[in-house]
Amino acid sequence: MNRQELMKLALEARERSYSPYSNYRVGAALLGESGTVYLGCNVENAAYSPGICAERTAFVKAVSEGERNFRAIAIVGGPAKGAPETAPPCGVCRQVMMEFCNPDTFEIVLGTGPKDCGSYTLAELLPQGFGPGNLKK
Ligand code: THU
Repeated sequence: MNRQELMKLALEARERSYSPYSNYRVGAALLGESGTVYLGCNVENAAYSPGICAERTAFVKAVSEGERNFRAIAIVGGPAKGAPETAPPCGVCRQVMMEFCNPDTFEIVLGTGPKDCGSYTLAELLPQGFGPGNLKK
């Protein structure tokens, strides 16, 4: 699974975004070490705060299926009526990545589609991140 294929799956996941309040649709495709890809979209709520981002939807799906080690995630967003846009992950999602991913090797693929995407490590997007290692003696 290369970054282009993962981005294509993120675009497919974005089609299922439930975002009637922001009208901002996000899709994510998370590649586990097992080779399984977990898709996620943002799922909003009339009470606002229960809403969840696409990236965390994918992580929660994966972890609840028993996968805890990950290689990469592709993310794509943008307004419901417009073309897909680059959608950097929010701070909360970066922190969730920090829980399960090696910051030096986990790849975050951003862009507007398979032909226009690039990748960053988690360490690049969350420098000096606080993670499980900080709580070990
Ligand atoms: N959103 C995501 O799904 N991922 C992010 O990393 C940033 C924001 C969603 C949350 C909300 O449904 C909409 O985008 C507008 O903030």
